[in-house]
Amino acid sequence: MAKPQINLYYKNVTIDELGEENKITEMQLEDLAKKTKPLISQLNKERKEGKTPYRDLPFKTEISQQVKKLTAEIKDNCENLVVLGIGGSALGNIALQTALNPYLYNIDNRQCRGPRLFVFDNVDPVQFSSFLDWIGDKLDRTTFNVISKSGQTSETAAQFLIIREMLLDRLGANGLRNQIVTTTDAGKGTLHEITRDLGFRNLEVPDGVGGRFSVLSAVGLFSAAMCGIDIDLLLAGAIDMDTRVSNEDFYSNPAAINAAINYHYYNHGKKISVMMPYSYHLKDLADWYRQLWAESLGKAEDLKGNEVHIGPTPVKALGVTDQHSQIQLYREGPNDKLFTFLQVNNFDKDVKIGPAPDCAPELNYLAGKKLSILLNNEKRATEYALLQSKRPCLTIIFPGVNEYTVGQFIYLYEVTTSLAGALFGINPYDQPAVELGKEATFALMGKTGYCERVEMTYEQFAQEIKTTTKVDEEYLV
Ligand code: PA5
Repeated sequence: MAKPQINLYYKNVTIDELGEENKITEMQLEDLAKKTKPLISQLNKERKEGKTPYRDLPFKTEISQQVKKLTAEIKDNCENLVVLGIGGSALGNIALQTALNPYLYNIDNRQCRGPRLFVFDNVDPVQFSSFLDWIGDKLDRTTFNVISKSGQTSETAAQFLIIREMLLDRLGANGLRNQIVTTTDAGKGTLHEITRDLGFRNLEVPDGVGGRFSVLSAVGLFSAAMCGIDIDLLLAGAIDMDTRVSNEDFYSNPAAINAAINYHYYNHGKKISVMMPYSYHLKDLADWYRQLWAESLGKAEDLKGNEVHIGPTPVKALGVTDQHSQIQLYREGPNDKLFTFLQVNNFDKDVKIGPAPDCAPELNYLAGKKLSILLNNEKRATEYALLQSKRPCLTIIFPGVNEYTVGQFIYLYEVTTSLAGALFGINPYDQPAVELGKEATFALMGKTGYCERVEMTYEQFAQEIKTTTKVDEEYLV
């Protein structure tokens, strides 16, 4: 049986309706093909040399086996799974859960295939205390998955310390050990040390895989497997996409075309890239993409050390919701955006619209139609309206939303990001600008010692930050 594949549809960046300024001509596409083709080969070569370990994650059966083994050990006694993590240690988990489990998974027992899932990627005290109030008497049936590659991220560390104290107080040292699973670097880092010392069960963030490229490792797979998602199928989808995005024929490679089109538009005044799923289930994949795109491509320096300050701004919008919020701007505001719709051809469930009352015959046009038809027609309507305003549009078409297609999408965008990084001539795998903020938080929260990044002590650093950010009453109105 043919396996369902997602596709990139790119005709609507080439059509004449967009006008000379906004369309990609055949010649421009050919130039992009020439520029991108050697980069596909370069990426394939780097992959063989082990320089992009995220590419190999779907093939590492030992990871999924370890995840499944731990899941089998824990699942029966686990009613709540709580992920403590942030950025690349949370967004993939959220995206998989939203995409592949029912909307009311957490509150309807008939719809859940595992424990309730909560992912905390913030340190809002009101949000967290509400959760602590609720979870307090359920701790013995709750697993906390603390995910942090470095183990130093202050948000995750703070959450961990709160939960550790709570578990120790209420369940003692054994309870603490039983209810925590850590996911962290295999050989180093604070969380690695804690795991060793306190004897927590542990999964690994593979070496050389940055947070935002780690969803197909234990980072994303454990919560997915616990919640009944078929991780083998997810990885099979990624493997399927791996073949397609390794293809050195530009026109057959969806990552190459996607990266090249994004690169082209960035250089032609469209610095904003809007991803707009027409599926509630895909909405958090757009969030995951936002981080992947922003942290990977937003860079001050190119690979030669030139100051470039480059990077498309990723924006998330949700169809149909944001038609009633953003489309006015998208059509009549500055023509500075490339749109990527996510379209689903077949929905798992559908709902028929009821008949119109006699007093409102003007609603008869809806009666008896399916919501899926309305949703997809709204996508077409929005695409048409944007094209009328000369706004270029791409579409990723999902035959359906399932593990296999979501695995393909994740892998497609990871490799698209690598290729876009190569086109922009920057390193897509680091995030130096995030690190300064992390260190500044350490300083403000009272860390001591020497901070290499800013070449001063944390105390001095804290003083400098306080001076810069001190509220000047003169400017308060
Ligand atoms: O993509 C990244 O590298 C970041 O978003 C990290 O995942 C995030 O900062 C959390 O870091 P850590 O996993 O070390 O706690």
